[in-house]
Amino acid sequence: MLSHIIDVLADPVDGTALSGADDFTRLVSVSGHSYDVARQGYVTLAGGAGLNHSGDSAEMVAARETFLSQGHFAPLVEAVSAATLDALDEASVPDDADPVILEVGAGTGYYLSHTLDHIDGARGVGLDVSTSAAKLLAKSHPRVGAVVADVWSSLPLLDKSVDVICVVFAPRNPAEFARVLKDGGEVIVLTPDAGHLAELREPLGIIDVEEGKVERMLEQASGHLRQVGESTHITFPMTLDKRSIAAQVAMSPSARHIEAAELDERVASLPETMTVTGKATLTRLTV
Ligand SMILES: C[S@@+](CC[C@H](N)C(=O)[O-])C[C@H]1O[C@@H](n2cnc3c(N)ncnc32)[C@H](O)[C@@H]1O
Repeated sequence: MLSHIIDVLADPVDGTALSGADDFTRLVSVSGHSYDVARQGYVTLAGGAGLNHSGDSAEMVAARETFLSQGHFAPLVEAVSAATLDALDEASVPDDADPVILEVGAGTGYYLSHTLDHIDGARGVGLDVSTSAAKLLAKSHPRVGAVVADVWSSLPLLDKSVDVICVVFAPRNPAEFARVLKDGGEVIVLTPDAGHLAELREPLGIIDVEEGKVERMLEQASGHLRQVGESTHITFPMTLDKRSIAAQVAMSPSARHIEAAELDERVASLPETMTVTGKATLTRLTV
């Protein structure tokens, strides 16, 4: 619910604080701008230029929900939640401080809601540029507030308002992350590694993750954020049936490059179940 996170939200036009009006059907800023809350519970906080991206389509979001609900990425969600708890511990955030966790490119809210389940009182800002994602985000957890915004614009959050930022397979804005993080706060980034879903690449004709993704991320962050400790590598097997494989492909960028009928044919020609490797790196950064 947006009321849980209203104290950290900012007007995307001028950065002034927002508050709820008319029973939280609108958010209004100190400077007088007004933003309607959609009946599905999310708010779009875009500056004058509006949103430059649409993000994941309704079909991609639905496929992501189907795939993630089967628990195949459990090692990834566990790693993100554990790293968030560690980051709060290391920043000595007291248990009763109601910390704010921002997830950027939060999709269906799978990672954010799992993390909130492990931290009593923590509040989540689920930010995504996709309105289809925001509809699910708004329902993902009672302590999540869903915001539609573009991570490549200035974030609609007050300076030094967020304890931990999580980014799972999604775009980053290091300068803005440094601005909104509280002192001692951390950014937790999960990036896919070359070899992620390797067994599906050839039969389905989908592209591999390029090498050096983490190094490039650190380069882009330099000057704003620095790495904390070493990255953690996560590799695990998944047993996927054809339905899960179809959902995995439909939620990924491959969905935009391969005709749906062609993809159905390729999935149909696979064995009934396949063992597929999950491979990702978790990196922690701070200001
Ligand atoms: C690969 S998905 C990951 C979703 C979620 N983190 C997960 O792993 O389930 C990337 C997400 O980033 C969102 N996204 C893409 N570009 C964005 C942008 N410029 N600003 C905010 N979100 C964006 C997409 O809509 C999508 O939900």
